[in-house]
Amino acid sequence: MEIKAGTAVKPSELELARQLEYIRMIREKNDAFEQANGRKKKFYSLAMGCQMNAHDSEKLEGMLYEMGFEPTEVEKEADFIIYNTCCVRENAELKVYGKLGWLKHYKEVKNPDAIIALCGCMMQQETVLQTLRQKYRHVDIVFGTFNLYKLPELVATRMESDRTVYDIWQEHQEVVEDLPIIRHFPYKASVNIMFGCNNFCSYCIVPYVRGRERSRTPEDIIAEVRKLAADGVKEVMLLGQNVNSYGKNLDNPVSFAELLRMVNEVEGIERIRFMTSHPKDLSDELIKAMAECDKVCKYLHLPVQSGSSEILRQMNRHYTKESYMEIVRKAREAMPGITLSTDIIVGFPGETEEDFQQTLDVIREARYSTAFTFIYSKRTGTPAAVMENQVPEDVVSDRFNRMLDVLNPIVHEVHEEQVGKVMTVFAEEVSKQNSSILTGRADNNMLVHFPGTEDMIGQMIPVKIIDNKTFYLIGERI
Ligand code: 5AD
Ligand code: SF4
Repeated sequence: MEIKAGTAVKPSELELARQLEYIRMIREKNDAFEQANGRKKKFYSLAMGCQMNAHDSEKLEGMLYEMGFEPTEVEKEADFIIYNTCCVRENAELKVYGKLGWLKHYKEVKNPDAIIALCGCMMQQETVLQTLRQKYRHVDIVFGTFNLYKLPELVATRMESDRTVYDIWQEHQEVVEDLPIIRHFPYKASVNIMFGCNNFCSYCIVPYVRGRERSRTPEDIIAEVRKLAADGVKEVMLLGQNVNSYGKNLDNPVSFAELLRMVNEVEGIERIRFMTSHPKDLSDELIKAMAECDKVCKYLHLPVQSGSSEILRQMNRHYTKESYMEIVRKAREAMPGITLSTDIIVGFPGETEEDFQQTLDVIREARYSTAFTFIYSKRTGTPAAVMENQVPEDVVSDRFNRMLDVLNPIVHEVHEEQVGKVMTVFAEEVSKQNSSILTGRADNNMLVHFPGTEDMIGQMIPVKIIDNKTFYLIGERI
């Protein structure tokens, strides 16, 4: 981007221009490396955790590519390794420390010039930074969730010095638009509609590491969706920690339902999905918009977390079992055949057998097509971490198994109901196991495997469902 003297430029545009200049400088160095060594430097990028991180990593990868690195799937041949970390549960963090142990060896023995970068949610915690400073000094670049766009500057700084570059911000400053990006799928794309979270569910670390809620303007969002459509994208996933509170903090407030209607008008886009919807903010207006917008998929991810109203109160969720089930009822009434999925936490502090039974009740009543199930993980700094009545591990794992015994047969039944139906499946990928099979999703988000060829990827294919494998369906083209 060129900046001309005298034009009014937004600070975010200036910032983008600065980063593009760093990209150019690094590219010169990497080109010189290529000339001297007959190969390009390679980067390996790993996104852990949620869709938000996966999408952030697309931007990190886009910047690295512009810097003259080429992507590799093979970590042990990479010159630049970047992990976009998650800290929602403890096991995500343990995985990073495990990998850092391996990387120490990699740097010592295989590639002393390799650059290791860590970013994302885990890095926003002071205890993690202390551990890195003490035990993992072979890490080169550390940054957080608020300054992702600064990657080029941080890489340039590291190339000039032999010290670890730490750049962690405590809060959000500005959204830098139009970063280079490598999209993981050519025909479907994620679009951030908002960042951060204001809900402070008592178990959750996200508000502490991703900051307060802020929405992008509908103009920026629609411009991005139009650009994606022009680029051949047919399906967009609108991303936010709680899309139902979208737009409340804008200068000209816009509701999520209104935004959905605007995206529905964009020519070329055929399907619209979104996540995540907090039940406390799910309005009748949104249900109506979902029902009326032909491109909006009839599928709703509606995290319940627990079926016990008392546990929900302790979780600071601001809804009850009854009000949750009322939303389910309304959604089904407005959109017969809609599929629902959810997130469930087992073993929140103070959860009794009776509370747990309430969760099983909700599973039976809501009849989810899929559910993301988690064992409660204590996160330092959250209110739940200091609650005294933590549930013993053996009790939690017994409940977890009993929950799957209730959930999986329901998931199977809900999939079984689809057998014999004809569905439009958006062909996304060639199956990793069998190159004559394509995988894709139906409007209702169910995964479908069917025979096909690579040239069909990116198309909407009518498929008759002939078999049910519980977590996915088998179809044949008609
Ligand atoms: N322990 C277990 N699961 C958690 N989640 C968030 N925080 C925790 C935690 N401390 C789950 C919630 C959320 C999903 C993204 O992760 O179910 O919806
Ligand atoms: Fe975490 Fe609750 Fe915000 Fe979701 S809504 S990110 S669970 S605090």
